[in-house]
Amino acid sequence: MPVALVIGASRGIGLELVRQYRADGWRVLACARSASGLEHVQGLGAEPIALDVTDSAAISRLKTTLSHIALDVAIINAGVLVGRGDSFAPSQADFDLAMHTNVLAAMQLVPEIEPGLRKAKGVLAMMSSRMGSIAEMSSPSELLYRVSKAALNAVAKAAALRLAGDGVRVLALHPGWVKTDMGGKGAALEVGESVHGLRNVIHNATDEQSGLMFDYRGTPIAW
Ligand SMILES: NC(=O)c1ccc[n+]([C@@H]2O[C@H](COP(=O)([O-])OP(=O)(O)OC[C@H]3O[C@@H](n4cnc5c(N)ncnc54)[C@H](OP(=O)(O)O)[C@@H]3O)[C@@H](O)[C@H]2O)c1
Repeated sequence: MPVALVIGASRGIGLELVRQYRADGWRVLACARSASGLEHVQGLGAEPIALDVTDSAAISRLKTTLSHIALDVAIINAGVLVGRGDSFAPSQADFDLAMHTNVLAAMQLVPEIEPGLRKAKGVLAMMSSRMGSIAEMSSPSELLYRVSKAALNAVAKAAALRLAGDGVRVLALHPGWVKTDMGGKGAALEVGESVHGLRNVIHNATDEQSGLMFDYRGTPIAW
């Protein structure tokens, strides 16, 4: 039975990833920080792992929790959108929260989950955003979020280089503009459609694609 690890699985895109992988018969390990999130994933038949990605000590225990498990897919999905607007002066608190959740956590997670990915020659996906593309930036809106996702893209590229010799492919992914708490009710896409596409892109990931960014339809996005 193939195995997927979803980090940030309590709701939105993460919870739908859990739902779809479980519906396809996968074993799913699902990380969430809240009791309700852990209940949600357990209700879908996933194995719950309590994890706040801003808790470095908890991240450093993951390697032990996951030892001996070959990971076909690992998805770092947890993310926050804070300090909204085009402010060039975000509060220190907003900056720290965005950069810790969206960037530092991914950096700290890679060494914890790479042994499992190596075992399966799996795929590591980092949930980025088109808004993290400097090439496609057409507005300074949500600047702190853009900056954090641009930095996450660098983490994805670095992880691809680090894991290239081990047969592990690493993708930065843009899910589209999705109807979740973050995307809002007016978003373009249902979460099911986005996740269906994301899973296809992950499933078909090639060595040549490793270290690059794609949207949920598999269309490349320039850095
Ligand atoms: N929706 C969109 O249109 C869109 C577009 C581009 C990119 N994205 C990216 O896609 C990912 C998922 O977004 P979404 O739309 O599903 O957002 P969402 O509905 O706001 O859900 C965010 C998820 O991240 C988790 N999370 C946040 N901070 C965490 C922490 N410290 N520890 C553990 N989990 C944490 C949340 O858990 P809690 O329930 O505990 O808060 C929740 O499961 C994000 O990385 C986002 O940036 C979304």
